[in-house]
Amino acid sequence: MSENIIYCYSGAGHCLDMAKKIARGLGDTDIVMMRSYPAKTDAREAKRVGFIFSCMAGGLPGDVESYVKAIQIAPDAYRFAVEQYAGYLGCGLRKLDEIVHLDYWDGISNHSTAIWLMPHTLTVPPTKPETAQKRVDRKAAEIAAAVMAGKRSEKRPPKQAAFALMSEGLGKTHARRVKKFAANDSCIGCGTCERVCPRNNIQLVGGKPSFGSNCIGCLSCVQYCPKSAINIGRITEKRERYPNRNVKAEDLTQKIIHID
Ligand SMILES: Cc1cc2nc3c(=O)[nH]c(=O)nc-3n(C[C@H](O)[C@H](O)[C@H](O)COP(=O)(O)O)c2cc1C
Repeated sequence: MSENIIYCYSGAGHCLDMAKKIARGLGDTDIVMMRSYPAKTDAREAKRVGFIFSCMAGGLPGDVESYVKAIQIAPDAYRFAVEQYAGYLGCGLRKLDEIVHLDYWDGISNHSTAIWLMPHTLTVPPTKPETAQKRVDRKAAEIAAAVMAGKRSEKRPPKQAAFALMSEGLGKTHARRVKKFAANDSCIGCGTCERVCPRNNIQLVGGKPSFGSNCIGCLSCVQYCPKSAINIGRITEKRERYPNRNVKAEDLTQKIIHID
């Protein structure tokens, strides 16, 4: 049993990169992936339990809320959470806090991985990806030190009620968008998309991906396709992908990653 457990959701690898960096600062940590049902929900032996996830549609990604409800944490364990977002914090941290009662929380902005909505370079103020990565790295070191020191946040995460409504509304729009996923002629049938999909929603049929209807919109397939062959309609065709450079597609397929 590890001293620390971090539950992580990550679509394009940015939160996993951060989770690994925080885990190195803490030592002896299991990172349990939450893109599908977590492989370990009994965290009662851990001294510190963390949650690191991206803001999606203004709230918690995928089925994260229901996964978190299944996790058992010791009453005296230290609980912390970090959210990565492009433009705003949304209501995800607050929802999480309502379930696990966080001791400490923080948020940090990165480029947007929602490339069906905007190019990832469209940041306000303009920020280069390298600068955004350095900022995340600095934050990860600060958070690891704060967690080791047992720091407590003075306030609860903001409620942001409008985002709770938005996240429900956008969930429905997403169901329509899912139907537009397709691979173009650049596809080499390597199967990366099939492996990286947390929902087994992609199957290679005749060497090309076929998309089902069980998508949570993580965009791992779009971001990690080595040929940028997967698009959502035409809108993403000319948009640069933004997977995290330190995280490989195979890293995202792991259920639990141990960091000493
Ligand atoms: C489907 C989708 C929806 C998103 N929605 C939001 C949002 O509502 N607000 C926001 O600030 N960022 C949003 N983002 C941006 C991500 O939160 C941000 O890029 C994050 O760093 C991605 O981390 P990850 O690669 O670990 O998933 C969204 C990204 C995706 C793919």
